[in-house]
Amino acid sequence: MLSIKNISKTYKKSTVKAIDDVSIDIEDGDIYGFVGPNGAGKSTTLKCVVGIHSYDSGEIYLNGKTLKDDPIGYKKMLAYVPDNPDIYEHLTGIQYLDFIANVFGMGEEKNELIHKYSALFGIEDKLANPVKSYSHGMRQKLQIISALIHNPKLLVLDEPFVGLDPKATFDLKEVMKELCAQGTMIFFSSHVLEVVEKFCNKIAIIKDGKIIAQGLTEEVKGDESLEQKFMELFND
Ligand SMILES: Nc1ncnc2c1ncn2[C@@H]1O[C@H](COP(=O)(O)OP(=O)(O)OP(=O)(O)O)[C@@H](O)[C@H]1O
Ligand SMILES: [Mg+2]
Repeated sequence: MLSIKNISKTYKKSTVKAIDDVSIDIEDGDIYGFVGPNGAGKSTTLKCVVGIHSYDSGEIYLNGKTLKDDPIGYKKMLAYVPDNPDIYEHLTGIQYLDFIANVFGMGEEKNELIHKYSALFGIEDKLANPVKSYSHGMRQKLQIISALIHNPKLLVLDEPFVGLDPKATFDLKEVMKELCAQGTMIFFSSHVLEVVEKFCNKIAIIKDGKIIAQGLTEEVKGDESLEQKFMELFND
């Protein structure tokens, strides 16, 4: 379980809280969608969860561990796909995947997963090429594959569908479903409300750094579509 308890963060040189008293609980097997306007605090929250940013108050527990008490134990359980696929350009695709698998202490079992996911996303024949020769979408696929190959208990993705072609979008959704059926927690931000609505069993909506609605998707959106709900909340 991921338990985000009352976290707040103000960036250096800023006077406003980027996120303000955010609390979200994610249980094993949840596909948890995170929506809200540009600048609302989604990426900031995700970066706090994965340990890229510190937070000023509150605490985050991943299966009972915190980043402060057990940073390695905590980070070993998670994978993060950022909103920008910046990957070491001088490495080849396979060198990058090997590097990530080694960081996470994987043995030879990594090879099967690298094969499975790079074949699925259609870049297996490109793995010998340097990342600098990859298109934006190919880099994004490589980053997604690197997140999948070490069997994370928590998969955090920041706008994962931006830039992916329709087949890769479909395949990623299928993989996400497969993982959550095995008990993996998935927490992702997205502006694609149709996908979030159909796909996530739970959602949180954030506005100006504060969570304004959260829980089961059906309960949060009520009888409306998520898009209608969103327009009601933000069309002022
Ligand atoms: N590195 C930073 N330094 C200072 N302020 C930041 C930084 N990153 C984000 N912010 C500010 O924090 C607030 C939340 O930004 P964040 O990136 O979390 O929003 P978001 O919900 O991910 O938006 P988007 O949908 O555009 O990706 C915004 O006011 C933003 O200007
Ligand atoms: Mg963002």
